Amino acid sequence: MRIIINGNRSKGTINKNIYGHFSEHLGRCIYGGLYAGDNSDIPNVNGMRTDVVNALKDLNIPVLRWPGGCFADTYHWQDGIGPKENRKTIVNTNWGGVTEDNSFGTHEFLELCRQLGCEPYISGNVGSGTVQEFSDWVEYCNMGGISPMASLRRLNGRDEPWHVKYWGIGNEAWGCGGNMRPEYYGDLCRQYSTYLRNYDKEHKIYKIASGANVDDYRWTEAVARVAGHVIDAMSLHYYTVPNEDWHHKGAATGFTTEEYYTTLRKTLYMKTLVENHTNIMRMTNPKHKLGLVVDEWGTWFDVEPDTNPGFLYQQNTMRDALVAAINLNIFNDHCDVVVMANIAQTVNVLQAMVLTEGEKMVLTPSYHVFHMYKGHQNAKQLETYAETKTVGCGDDQVPNLHVSASQAANGSVLLTVANLSDTEAAPVEVLWSGIGRCGKVEGTVLAGASGAYNTFDAPENVKPQPMSGIQVTESGFTAVMPACSVAAFTITE
Ligand code: AHR
Repeated sequence: MRIIINGNRSKGTINKNIYGHFSEHLGRCIYGGLYAGDNSDIPNVNGMRTDVVNALKDLNIPVLRWPGGCFADTYHWQDGIGPKENRKTIVNTNWGGVTEDNSFGTHEFLELCRQLGCEPYISGNVGSGTVQEFSDWVEYCNMGGISPMASLRRLNGRDEPWHVKYWGIGNEAWGCGGNMRPEYYGDLCRQYSTYLRNYDKEHKIYKIASGANVDDYRWTEAVARVAGHVIDAMSLHYYTVPNEDWHHKGAATGFTTEEYYTTLRKTLYMKTLVENHTNIMRMTNPKHKLGLVVDEWGTWFDVEPDTNPGFLYQQNTMRDALVAAINLNIFNDHCDVVVMANIAQTVNVLQAMVLTEGEKMVLTPSYHVFHMYKGHQNAKQLETYAETKTVGCGDDQVPNLHVSASQAANGSVLLTVANLSDTEAAPVEVLWSGIGRCGKVEGTVLAGASGAYNTFDAPENVKPQPMSGIQVTESGFTAVMPACSVAAFTITE
């Protein structure tokens, strides 16, 4: 099967923020996952788990969204600053009803971002907060001179502003963020946006409106119409859930072949959603090119047996690896409109990068895909074409191959390929034009049974291996993609 890379056609630069992540106060994502706390025996730096931070740093995480999610519209940031012993508690009413001590707040989140070397993206509280509260948060983070909030920040030990660029104006305003109608939210968005100020000409903030759920195109149209001129981007949330019944979404492991293909078919729907929402934004607001921020995506399965149903803890298999690969390929190929994406969620929740248990940590197959794809960040997207055959089960038919490619500033080309068939290997012949003098090809492949996963006792069950059998030809190369696999090929001079 041929895969063509056309170096003469590109949609532009792949925004590195497409490789962003999301971490909510939910289950063990923050507490126990990213944050061990100041008095933990687990090795940490200023409370952040060293093992988790090191693993995530290796992904070159560009941007991290926090504190939610649904949690964001219950969160009052001033309860999470100042001496920890004086902080109020908060009951996490969305997720498990647990009481949190607010020991992880604004300073801790921004310290985590510093350690990860990534940009923060803060979702403010519109659902149960006030305009003043949100406006103060921006001033607290970004005001360099003298002001009430800058003084409060200094009192809490931080002199310099953090210059937080990305601000979300609420989250899922159509649901847990206030059950609003789009026109009403659009008006609120205008009001909030007015008071989210720039405190420094060099560091303009970037405002992201709460966007649609899945295919709610009416939401996108109305918010873009009412508030499009006061924001920079709109979000989109789309989770891959195998079964329609939300109470029986399907197990993360031990799934059937049918569920495997349903999951992949539903993942491919992301392309349609990205294109339709963008077209609506463009038609509604042609002068102001709003970006699309897919700030929640990934698999959502039933929680693992005997775990808190509100904690959304699920295992992560080769099926998840394919879901990650397909979504990232789609985002790469829509880099002219997708300005950011954030997989849900970084640690211990939904489609996580790493899982922890006490002091143990394991990398998931999804982690490995992000690692193999990191060369796409800020590279020039290249047009690709893949000959495919249809594979699947019953009504769930999908193309066997899914690809994207990009060229880095140094001329090297990264081609990422997923083989969706759970049983059949796919011999590929890769041909290219317009990418300069290329003659060396190296590959890495992540492969396994569709249900294969890593555990704390067998952490390397699924891990990337060098791709063997690559044959360089006059005009490209050949290789064989194993069944159910993701490969990254680097083509250099
Ligand atoms: O990621 C879990 C939840 O999914 C988020 O809190 C919410 O925004 C979405 O419904």
